[in-house]
Amino acid sequence: MSDRYIDFANSSLGHRLVAAIGLPSPVRLERWQAGRLRPVEGALLLGGGALVSKVQAFANRLTDAIYTYGTETSTWIPGHGPKLKAVVFDASDLQHTDQLKQLREFFQPLLKNLDNSAHLVILGRAPENLSDPFAASAQRALEGFSRSLAKELRNGGVLQLLYVGDGAEDQLEGALRFFLSPKSAYISGQVIRLEACTTPVEDWTRPLAGRKALVTGAARGIGASIAETLARDGAEVILLDVPQAKADLDALAARLGARTVALDICAEDAGNQLIEHLPEGLDILVHNAGITRDKTLANMTPEYWDAVLAVNLNAPQVLTQALLDSGTLHDNARVVLLASISGIAGNRGQTNYAASKAGLIGLAQAWAPLLKERGISINAVAPGFIETQMTAHIPFALREAGRRMSSLGQGGLPQDVAEAVAWLGQPGSGAVSGQALRVCGQSLLGA
Ligand SMILES: NC(=O)c1ccc[n+]([C@@H]2O[C@H](COP(=O)([O-])OP(=O)(O)OC[C@H]3O[C@@H](n4cnc5c(N)ncnc54)[C@H](O)[C@@H]3O)[C@@H](O)[C@H]2O)c1
Repeated sequence: MSDRYIDFANSSLGHRLVAAIGLPSPVRLERWQAGRLRPVEGALLLGGGALVSKVQAFANRLTDAIYTYGTETSTWIPGHGPKLKAVVFDASDLQHTDQLKQLREFFQPLLKNLDNSAHLVILGRAPENLSDPFAASAQRALEGFSRSLAKELRNGGVLQLLYVGDGAEDQLEGALRFFLSPKSAYISGQVIRLEACTTPVEDWTRPLAGRKALVTGAARGIGASIAETLARDGAEVILLDVPQAKADLDALAARLGARTVALDICAEDAGNQLIEHLPEGLDILVHNAGITRDKTLANMTPEYWDAVLAVNLNAPQVLTQALLDSGTLHDNARVVLLASISGIAGNRGQTNYAASKAGLIGLAQAWAPLLKERGISINAVAPGFIETQMTAHIPFALREAGRRMSSLGQGGLPQDVAEAVAWLGQPGSGAVSGQALRVCGQSLLGA
């Protein structure tokens, strides 16, 4: 559904009125358009430590406008250089409290020179892997800095912190293609850990070419958008939804040239049925199907409780186990579980839903090390307020609060969640596993 307040705040009268009475003024976020090739359309500023040379090795595939502070050929001078569309600062060398001032020195001059919907990334080293307590403390400080600066950005700017593990430098291109581009328009203030991964992306224009992907709950909403995005990126997509949604499923399948499976994921023999439908195996498994049955716990019926836990948590567990045991899920497969920020922050009236979504995050964390040997990654994507039929049914006041209570001051689109899933589905994204990636515009709810 459309967000009329954004339309109003971006009209000429609305813009002045909103500013005059101090209301939030969300901007229209720049999103990835079909046919676009370059992740960054505009100036990219690089700075900081030794990892910058790794980024420079592929930076010309991101954009042709690359700048650094203080080199002779492509010096960027605040107030004189072009507005910045993207910024990467390598803070991985910072080992002492004293050195943290480099963050202020680097970022302060550029903050008034950011283009609309600018994407900023800070690189660091995961504190838990450092033996020197002071170095670990300095690297942990990056988290507080980046989450706070993300909240200060204006005009649709977003910022993430990537902790780069040993050997993970080779996977920086895939991560930066995502986090510096409009594909991550609705992600901000996130901390992601990259590990070494041996499966590269062969073709950046079709990073999922040759991969078979199953999306559950694909008939509408976020699931339909995920299916479209995986197909755009070259995957052969199989769409699953309940038999009652078969008409919508067939219509989408016709558009995407996809196959369909009409199946209730909670059916007794769902595992076997699914295996029969996937004789050639599977490379990407997206557990998107989910339901809400909201009541405060005092009024929660057993039926409401059971239905939500069965669809949202038990079915992904049972089906993933069946696909693993049968060998249907290939080595180096990518599994993505649709969680929710409710599962991180909790939400009144959603004890059942939040339990199921937190359980999914726990599942990703627990399964990741066990599946590592086979090169399989498993992650949760936790959307915040996304404009779908699910959120259209939320009462008006709560819906408005859900939209505005984030750094970006608006709800996300199904496309925003779909882009995150598609990135995690890439061969090179085996660098990320056991993590929960929030797609929530840096919602004020939760960590
Ligand atoms: N919309 C949001 O703001 C939001 C926020 C956080 C998380 N999520 C999660 O994202 C996912 C998709 O959400 P959405 O808003 O697109 O929901 P939606 O209700 O629009 O679509 C869910 C789809 O899942 C299917 N489904 C439900 N039960 C099923 C079953 N037993 N077997 C097979 N298919 C089944 C439905 O038929 C439907 O097509 C859900 O897991 C949801 O919890 C959504």
